[in-house]
Amino acid sequence: MAKAKWGESQIPNQKGKLVIVTGSTSGIGKEAVRILTDKQATLVMSVRNTQKGDLVAAEIQSANPEAKIKVMQLDLSSLESIKDFAANFNQYFDRLDVLINNAGIMMCPHAKTTDGFEIQMGTNHLGHFALTGYLLPLLKKTKNSRIVVTSSVAHKFGKINLDDINWEKRKYNTNNAYGDSKIANLYFAYELVRKLKSDPHAPMVTAAHPGWTRTELQRHKSGIRFLNNFFSQAPEMGILPSLRAGFDPEAKAGDYYGPAKYFEMQGHPVIVKSNQLSHDRDIAKQLWDISEEMTGVKY
Ligand SMILES: NC(=O)c1ccc[n+]([C@@H]2O[C@H](COP(=O)([O-])OP(=O)(O)OC[C@H]3O[C@@H](n4cnc5c(N)ncnc54)[C@H](OP(=O)(O)O)[C@@H]3O)[C@@H](O)[C@H]2O)c1
Repeated sequence: MAKAKWGESQIPNQKGKLVIVTGSTSGIGKEAVRILTDKQATLVMSVRNTQKGDLVAAEIQSANPEAKIKVMQLDLSSLESIKDFAANFNQYFDRLDVLINNAGIMMCPHAKTTDGFEIQMGTNHLGHFALTGYLLPLLKKTKNSRIVVTSSVAHKFGKINLDDINWEKRKYNTNNAYGDSKIANLYFAYELVRKLKSDPHAPMVTAAHPGWTRTELQRHKSGIRFLNNFFSQAPEMGILPSLRAGFDPEAKAGDYYGPAKYFEMQGHPVIVKSNQLSHDRDIAKQLWDISEEMTGVKY
């Protein structure tokens, strides 16, 4: 008999569980907060704009007055902000069940993070690399914890130039820089799985992508925004791969979830395959070493 399509009804009750969703002021991150608070988890919305975060939390709580949400400041384009967030979090909480590394920016004009990193690699990969490193001890202390890494079909356009990760020696191409940051997410996930393999206390690391979901992400690309009308799915569908990666009891380390239909653009979440390049262990190891050096966070 065919298995039923995986949906939010399959997420077990999460009472007592603590979940961080980075970038939860809009798009699929906001949906994660809505769905997981309905499942009685306590949610930390880590957001760069706390006013916006408070408004989203209030909106979710007006629909579900029982929703437990704490809004905390985190700007992934600043190493100082990441360090401060982790220190505050570790002071406030004594467990972390699921870390959903979700925040992202796409195909924006050339810019640099506070620390001088190319903005897309800096925010999407390096920021989450540092954050995960700071939170790993607490994840290890929490039984059956998980880390979910968010990639994209666009990882297939990624081909990182490790000698010029900040695009200082080449003409900037924002589409390729986005692809680079999204294949970096997968190198990171797969390398972390290998690093944690022999640690019985380690969190399970999984990955996901939301296909083509209409969100704020497309703000810099009017053409993609127009095509949203024909090809995209709603955020409540787009978040399902990340939720399956984070909460399906049958998920295994290194599983990568994405939508089942139309070249992984839409549909219910299933295990999908990332491209061959994303499984290159040498590149993953080199990127790890560079990420440690750039962020100063070693693990
Ligand atoms: N939508 C798609 O079709 C699609 C496809 C493939 C992959 N993805 C991935 O899915 C993830 C979520 O994207 P989305 O589609 O939900 O986009 P979105 O609606 O634009 O949401 C992105 C979130 O990330 C936050 N963010 C951006 N820069 C940040 C920073 N420096 N520090 C902290 N938070 C920051 C944004 O905060 P603000 O509200 O302050 O801007 C927002 O909450 C991203 O990793 C994206 O690459 C999306």
